[in-house]
Amino acid sequence: MSDRPRLLPLLGANRHGSRDAMTCLYRCGNACDHPVPNSSDNPYFGDLVDAEVSRRGVVRAGAVGALVLGFGGAAVGALAGAAPAAAAPTAPAVPDAAEAAAAPVGVGSGALTFKPIPPNKLDALVVPNGYDHAVVIKWGDAVVPGAPAFGVHAQTAAAQAMQFGYNNDFVGVLPIDRKRALLVVNHEYTNEDLMFPGFTGIDALSVEQLRIAMAAHGMSVVELERADGTGRWRPVDHGRRPYNRRVTALATKFEVTGPAAGSAWLRTAADPKGRTVIGTLNNCSGGVTPWGTVLSGEENFNQYFVGGDGAPEELKPKLARYGIPTDVRYPSGSRKWDRADERFDLAKHPNEAHRFGWVVEIDPFDPESRPRKHTALGRLKHEGANVIVAQDGHVVAYMGDDERFDYLYKFVSDKKFMPGNSWVARKHNLTLLESGTLYVARLAGNSAAEIDGSGKLPTDGAFDGRGEWIKLVSGNRSYVDGMTAADVLTFTRLAADKVGATKMDRPEDVEPSLLTGKVYVALTNNTDRGKAGKAPADEANPRNLNKHGQILELVEDRGDNTAETFAWSLPIVCGDPTDPATHFAGYDKSQVSPISCPDNVAFDATGNLWISTDGNALGSNDGLFATAVEGPERGHLKQFLTVPLGAETCGPFITKDNRSVFVAVQHPGEITGASVEKPASTWPDGDFAKPGVVVTWRLDGGPIGS
Ligand code: FEO
Ligand code: CA
Ligand code: CA
Repeated sequence: MSDRPRLLPLLGANRHGSRDAMTCLYRCGNACDHPVPNSSDNPYFGDLVDAEVSRRGVVRAGAVGALVLGFGGAAVGALAGAAPAAAAPTAPAVPDAAEAAAAPVGVGSGALTFKPIPPNKLDALVVPNGYDHAVVIKWGDAVVPGAPAFGVHAQTAAAQAMQFGYNNDFVGVLPIDRKRALLVVNHEYTNEDLMFPGFTGIDALSVEQLRIAMAAHGMSVVELERADGTGRWRPVDHGRRPYNRRVTALATKFEVTGPAAGSAWLRTAADPKGRTVIGTLNNCSGGVTPWGTVLSGEENFNQYFVGGDGAPEELKPKLARYGIPTDVRYPSGSRKWDRADERFDLAKHPNEAHRFGWVVEIDPFDPESRPRKHTALGRLKHEGANVIVAQDGHVVAYMGDDERFDYLYKFVSDKKFMPGNSWVARKHNLTLLESGTLYVARLAGNSAAEIDGSGKLPTDGAFDGRGEWIKLVSGNRSYVDGMTAADVLTFTRLAADKVGATKMDRPEDVEPSLLTGKVYVALTNNTDRGKAGKAPADEANPRNLNKHGQILELVEDRGDNTAETFAWSLPIVCGDPTDPATHFAGYDKSQVSPISCPDNVAFDATGNLWISTDGNALGSNDGLFATAVEGPERGHLKQFLTVPLGAETCGPFITKDNRSVFVAVQHPGEITGASVEKPASTWPDGDFAKPGVVVTWRLDGGPIGS
């Protein structure tokens, strides 16, 4: 079309690796400009375990993998994501869990036979031949029935609080029955340049515009219906839609649970009991629990606070460890929300920052329920949390702290999962994340002497080794000298520093396969690795100045997800496959798609691993990839889709029937210099860029990927 706005050149790219400067500003509050928060001298643990022990561990893990398959595939896999039969009394309908769980129409063989798409810089969402896609919902669309129609020149906080928020990230799809499902989405952050016409700077925004941004953060719950019996889904646009709900940073009340609830660290003038928080911030990834709720990680919450310079002196090191500058009132990239709500001013309300950085649990089937922040899972820059039911019934949540040189965690519940969809089971399972044991990971390689930071594969043919989960806290008992349980849970990073956790290359999504129990970690990149004064490469993080990231596979000993020791390896060391410093599980690299900056991971119904990227440093738009993780096709990575210019690929989520792949297109057109009037992307409507959730399906109705 002749009046289509001209695309801007890629100004601002390459300032911080491949990520655009505008993304740095809004997404992480210019985290790369600030010092690495982990300045601990937490030592580098070299080769702690000899190769023989490691080999035994690998053999054992391999044997156990088959054993777990029978358990996880039949028992846990079927339960995951199934709707509860009896929601709380306020829930308006009773989802048919049995029907939802028994819908394996398109599951398929698991072979990934689609023709990979090439890297590209198109301002379009690109899928393989034989597939189609559609936007399910986008920024500004109605969520709560009665929401005003979106108008970019007529935005209000009240309207935004009823409409789909900005910058969708995590995507979960929870079946109600074969034709209906609940879409649960995170809205991680806002980009005011791209939201408000005539934007000239944060200081020029009205208080109402700041409140619009707060309302555009949070989560959405949207009832979907299957379109015409295909793999396509769309929002229900009529009737009561009783589940539809917005959770915002502006107004939604959260209950705090667990050992740190009510502690002195969480008390504020507005909440002297320290048990009720308003809002959730920077909700990045998450997970669907086996009991049909959704977890959401509060990630870069630090960027919302100002006045760190005026906080009490004794608190400053704690704030700094979470990336809050304590030498300046307004850090670079500050959103200055204190103009709309003074609780974001740490000079006045220093404890408010401690009320963010938690894992949030929301029950989408109970629209009146108050979401909860679970302190038992620790406080960090939570990328997300993903749960598996261990062999003995305890539930285990795996979590990453997304910061350069931060750590990998897991939580093991005190109580056991209660199977079934009865009201009693549901009530019980909703308490599982309120008490348990929190661990942090320490990893050691078995080829440590060979690791030189170049990414050269060790002579034993693998980046691999052993690891242990170090206990930080169990219930109210702390295992960290000089820290109470509430201290450990509120300042988890400081506790993990003390016990010598392994500094990782930005742990993003961490997700167990429900078919095998093996756990996959997206380590997205770390361009500071190996710099002067920073931790050097080790076998789990084997490249200095790591631009492209790696995938770590963690196999718990005895196949027991509650185990305190594990084997690990790197099946994929990302980059251009022609680069010798890449690894694709030994697969023929000429058959592999280039991949850079893995971020979120998911599994299809046959156990293939799907990986989305953020910040592709190879010059292509971000995308979604898939590979087998078992058998001869392990490492045969193929690109399934790309997202439009400036966007990253979030989600992803593959439905249990294997017929639909959902992704969230986050920050399309986020390229320095872009605005509503001069968009760098016109996706999806041809006018200005809007984040949105997309569903992809096979045209012939068959299983995805095959
Ligand atoms: Fe919001 Fe770590 O990505
Ligand atoms: Ca090795
Ligand atoms: Ca992410």
